[in-house]
Amino acid sequence: MLNVVNLVVYYGLGGKVVKAVDGVDFSVGEGEALGLVGESGCGKTSTGLAVIRMLPPNVVKLGGKILFEGIDILSMNPKDFAKEYQWRKISMVFQGAMNSFNPVLRVGLQVAEPLMVKEGVSKAEALNRARQVFRQVGLPPEYVDRYPHELSGGMKQRALVAMALIMQPKLIILDEPTSALDVSIQTQIMNMLKRLKREHGLSMIFITHDLALVSDIADEIAVMYAGKVVELGPSEKILCTPLHPYSSKLLSSTPRLKGPRTLDYIPGAPPSLTDPPTGCRFHPRCHRVFEKCVTEEPPCFVQDGVGVRCWLYQSDEAGKT
Ligand SMILES: Nc1ncnc2c1ncn2[C@@H]1O[C@H](COP(=O)(O)OP(=O)(O)OP(=O)(O)O)[C@@H](O)[C@H]1O
Ligand code: SF4
Ligand SMILES: [Mg+2]
Repeated sequence: MLNVVNLVVYYGLGGKVVKAVDGVDFSVGEGEALGLVGESGCGKTSTGLAVIRMLPPNVVKLGGKILFEGIDILSMNPKDFAKEYQWRKISMVFQGAMNSFNPVLRVGLQVAEPLMVKEGVSKAEALNRARQVFRQVGLPPEYVDRYPHELSGGMKQRALVAMALIMQPKLIILDEPTSALDVSIQTQIMNMLKRLKREHGLSMIFITHDLALVSDIADEIAVMYAGKVVELGPSEKILCTPLHPYSSKLLSSTPRLKGPRTLDYIPGAPPSLTDPPTGCRFHPRCHRVFEKCVTEEPPCFVQDGVGVRCWLYQSDEAGKT
């Protein structure tokens, strides 16, 4: 359904260029969920915003292709994209949007607004549709008449998902949808999302820094580091036998029920994206670094159906893309 090919997003900031997304490839199948994981600032949100074409105005370079059902939506005229794709086929729950509801408007009206604005549907009809979507996300339909302050955090997050679903899109991008919620509410939201995926065949891009959370929903996982996807493959493989040194460190720094008592950590901090490290961007923090890593950027080697950007996997057998 979605094929992202060599996506590039650079921002201009005070005379410098921030290489937020620098040659990213992934795809999402129909009814499948892709987990996009990585540390803060690695380019997850920028990737999501590029797919729905809602990047901030200070983008200085936008390149690559985003094919949705075979059509390159990145090169499409913005008006056509807004009319035919945005919210209709692709929607997004934005990071930290829980407190962005207008406090003086009833929630149902805000959820129904895209229908009225984009489709010219009457207020009564749009509110009816909002009630249906509220049911889908596990909210009592009469809550459409509530004001934002009358909803708990978890309910607001469900309402945001309802807003993203109001036009029945095929793909929904969820950017850290549970990070501001406590663990039990987080579980409820995850169960609701899994049900939506199962029952409505929704495709998802699930963005999070939390590997444990993504393991619950994703069919495939893309691990991002400093603007690049460093490992991409089926969730089970990435979670059970991670190949890239960054993925394995990320995993061993995530608490597990049967794991070791002391958690591992990744030394150092994520690099600046205005002046990223030479060669492999992870080399200053990598416990397996060797000479070549410092000067030469690794391409993506394919091993047992997993793509990995690391020189350790260079071999005659491994395919190179
Ligand atoms: N509008 C902008 N102008 C300049 N730089 C930006 C802008 N938006 C994001 N960035 C920078 O681009 C890089 C990628 O940011 P992005 O928000 O995509 O990362 P992220 O992985 O979503 O991070 P987080 O986990 O903190 O949400 C970061 O270095 C960030 O500071
Ligand atoms: S290419 Fe080298 S520095 Fe980069 S992850 Fe692999 S071993 Fe580590
Ligand atoms: Mg983000």
